[in-house]
Amino acid sequence: MQDISPKQNVRLAVLRAREAMSVRERADAGRFIRDAVLGRPEVEMAASVAAYVSFGTEPDTRSLLFALWKRGTYVLLPLLLPGGDLDWASYEGPDSLTAGRFGLLEPTEPRRGVDAIKAADVVLAPALAVSPSGLRLGRGGGSYDRALARVGPNILTVGLVYDAELLDSVPAEPHDQRLRAVVTPSGGFQECHS
Ligand SMILES: Nc1ncnc2c1ncn2[C@@H]1O[C@H](COP(=O)(O)OP(=O)(O)O)[C@@H](O)[C@H]1O
Ligand SMILES: [Mg+2]
Repeated sequence: MQDISPKQNVRLAVLRAREAMSVRERADAGRFIRDAVLGRPEVEMAASVAAYVSFGTEPDTRSLLFALWKRGTYVLLPLLLPGGDLDWASYEGPDSLTAGRFGLLEPTEPRRGVDAIKAADVVLAPALAVSPSGLRLGRGGGSYDRALARVGPNILTVGLVYDAELLDSVPAEPHDQRLRAVVTPSGGFQECHS
C-alpha cells in the first residue's frame, strides 16, 4: 500500500466519518453551529464577516450566511483562484451565488481581490479538524493558510467543525495558520489557546 502522510490519514478518516453521518445529523449540526456563531457578541458586532458556502458533507453554512446578510452584516465569500489562493466578493443573498470551479458555489458580485479578507472583523473558515490550540487541517489546497496569513492578529478567526473533528492534536507544518476559535455543535464557541 502507498504511504500516506499523517495529514492525509486524518483527512480521509474525517471525510469517511462525515459520510457516515445521516442527513438529519448533519442538518442538526449545521443549525447548532449557526446559532452559536450568530449569538456570539463579536459576530453580532462585526460589520464584516468573511465566510464560505458549505458543500457536500460540510456543516451547512447556507442559513448562517442568509441570517448574517439579513441582519445587515457585510458578508464576504471566497472564490477559488487557479493556484489555490482565494479572491473575495460580497454575498447579496442566495440568488447571488453561482457554480464556480469544481462546482463550488461562488459569489457573482465584483471581485475585491485577495487582500479583501483583511477588512473582515471575523473570518469563518472551513476545516476538517481543529486542535484546542487552533491548528487547522484543511482539504490539502492550503488556500486558507494563504488567506489567514493576511489577516491581523486581532481578527477573530473561527473554524466550523462537527464534534468529532475537534481533535486533541492535528498534524501540522510550519506554514499552517492557527485559528483563534472553533465552533462545534455540542461545544458551541470555544476559544483556542496555543
Ligand atoms: N502561504 C502559502 N503560500 C503558498 N503556498 C502555500 C502556503 N501555505 C500553504 N501552501 C501550499 O498548500 C499546500 C497544502 O497545505 P496544507 O496545509 O497541507 O493544506 P490545508 O491547509 O488545506 O490542509 C502546501 O504544501 C503548500 O504547498
Ligand atoms: Mg494547512
